[in-house]
Amino acid sequence: MISINKVDQLYGGTQILWELDLDIVPGSITCIMGRNGVGKTTLLKAIMGLLPIKSGEITMDGQALNKQSAEKRAYSGIGYVPQGRDIFPMLTVEENLRIGLPVRSKRTTDSPKDIPEKIFELFPVLKDMLHRRGGDLSGGQQQQLAIGRALVLEPKVLILDEPNEGIQPNIVKQIGDVILKLNKEEGLTVILVEQKLGFARRVGKEFRLMEKGRVVASDKMENLDDSLIKQYLAV
Ligand SMILES: Nc1ncnc2c1ncn2[C@@H]1O[C@H](COP(=O)(O)OP(=O)(O)OP(=O)(O)O)[C@@H](O)[C@H]1O
Ligand SMILES: [Mg+2]
Repeated sequence: MISINKVDQLYGGTQILWELDLDIVPGSITCIMGRNGVGKTTLLKAIMGLLPIKSGEITMDGQALNKQSAEKRAYSGIGYVPQGRDIFPMLTVEENLRIGLPVRSKRTTDSPKDIPEKIFELFPVLKDMLHRRGGDLSGGQQQQLAIGRALVLEPKVLILDEPNEGIQPNIVKQIGDVILKLNKEEGLTVILVEQKLGFARRVGKEFRLMEKGRVVASDKMENLDDSLIKQYLAV
């Protein structure tokens, strides 16, 4: 599936990712965890092709992604929900969702002209608010829209960067349920940056702990024990 090999990345002269190695288990839900500023978002952007890397290799199903544009990676089946949502505030919910349709039509054979009904089954609120402007939705609704928009592409891999940041508990629960359902019923591979331990434990099957731009521990979620939490997560 996705494999990252000795990746170095710099912003200007400052190195953020250091010979980072990471393997994503296909069909699993992997939580990338670590304190603020360790490079989690930088890593996701590097996977997505939104940031250039200095050296190393990122592959999906054995194919090098390094030289592919972010757009090409979306066509290859990587869906990305950035930190802080990033929907189009002036466009309606429907227009926000439609943006993914051209990519979808290249990826699937079923009625590519319409937003798949599945999106509205997962997030009924989006159907109710189809004609409302994205910017007028609540934070939680915007997050559901951002996830819905990524799902329009019918991705093989869904990457979410702190989807629960600043969101009330009932919507956090719904987002968790959607991730679990898509993983279980469709085998969707999920890569999730998550700081909340409770959510990570409920939803994640694997964890990868980061510190200072490196992955320092990798295991199944049930093996995320107190000493690791104390060393790499507690503030
Ligand atoms: N565009 C940028 N230019 C320069 N430095 C940056 C840029 N974006 C991020 N950084 C720096 O890179 C480091 C890693 O940032 P990153 O956003 O990847 O961390 P993070 O683990 O996602 O943190 P958080 O948990 O706060 O979201 C930080 O020191 C940050 O200040
Ligand atoms: Mg971040």
